[in-house]
Amino acid sequence: MELKANKAFLIPPRSEPSEEILSAARIISKGGCVAVPTETVYGLAANALNEEACKGIFSIKNRPYIDPLIVHVSSFDMLNDIAYTNELALKLAKKYWAGPLTMVLKKKDVISDIVSANLDTVAVRMSKHPIMNALIEASNVPLAAPSANPFGYISPTKAEHVKAQLGDKIELILDGGQCQCGLESTIISLVDETCPKLLRYGPISKEDIEETLAMELEIPKANPAQPTAPGMLKAHYSPNAQFSTFTEISEIEEGFEGAIIYLKRPELITKDSYWLSEDGNLEEIAKNLYDLIRFCDKTYKNIKCQCPKNEGLGAAICDRLRRASEK
Ligand code: TXA
Ligand code: MG
Repeated sequence: MELKANKAFLIPPRSEPSEEILSAARIISKGGCVAVPTETVYGLAANALNEEACKGIFSIKNRPYIDPLIVHVSSFDMLNDIAYTNELALKLAKKYWAGPLTMVLKKKDVISDIVSANLDTVAVRMSKHPIMNALIEASNVPLAAPSANPFGYISPTKAEHVKAQLGDKIELILDGGQCQCGLESTIISLVDETCPKLLRYGPISKEDIEETLAMELEIPKANPAQPTAPGMLKAHYSPNAQFSTFTEISEIEEGFEGAIIYLKRPELITKDSYWLSEDGNLEEIAKNLYDLIRFCDKTYKNIKCQCPKNEGLGAAICDRLRRASEK
């Protein structure tokens, strides 16, 4: 028999979910929480349509209920189930999904006030990490997942970071190795189509999104009284050590005692010198940033970290370093 051009080949074959994914999906379906890798940072996931399960996330993270959760979807159908889209959202989704972009949209009623912190919007993201997507598919529900760290601390980029801080509170951590981006997703509000807003700097730069939309992004002034995106809170992503930043090496005061984190290998290396990349590659810097800060936070009372140029991906890195410096 002649083989016809087989339509089935147009759809990538789906492999069976692994035993680990199936166990994780069972925990999700019982209303539990699972730590799961994404390309940005590890998330603490629960069924976004189950209020009690989502309350578990807040309790494990010690997260205040005023801080809404990001909901992860694995398909456009799932997106349409939970949020009202618009032209700008579709444009951005087409360009950047699956990937490190979160969009804030008007929510549908299936999203409870617990998830949205009483806002009428929901933050939605489609990760490109195969483990996150496999878990959503196996669970067959959208997953609410904030970063898997205690509220206010820097996000985990390795499974062992999650284990160290939340290991005794969660049943299962899916280990996907080190996260590729290392910084939390860029968040854009598209609720008002005439005025898209950048709520959080991230791996996809402001400049890039502005070019795609052919529009400028507004950056709302942080309003501590109404933290609609507490990722915008001044003190967030904070290590325990005294943390400060520098631009030029000459700014480091003589006699400084503590870890010095450089963007690239410095000329003068002391026992307390660390560097985020050999040659100053921004992607590598972003990927290693939280891991190295966590490492130094275990051994030093003081940490100084060099800031890159405040543009492109550098803007997201500077943003996190600034917040880490606030106490
Ligand atoms: O990369 C990421 O986005 C990671 C991974 C796990 O997906 N998630 C993450 O979630 O960083 P979280 O909860 O740590 O940060 C989400 C931020 C919070 O600052 C929250 O306030 C904001 O998103 N957010 C969530 N829903 C919102 C909404 N409806 N309006 C405005 N901001 C919202
Ligand atoms: Mg977080």
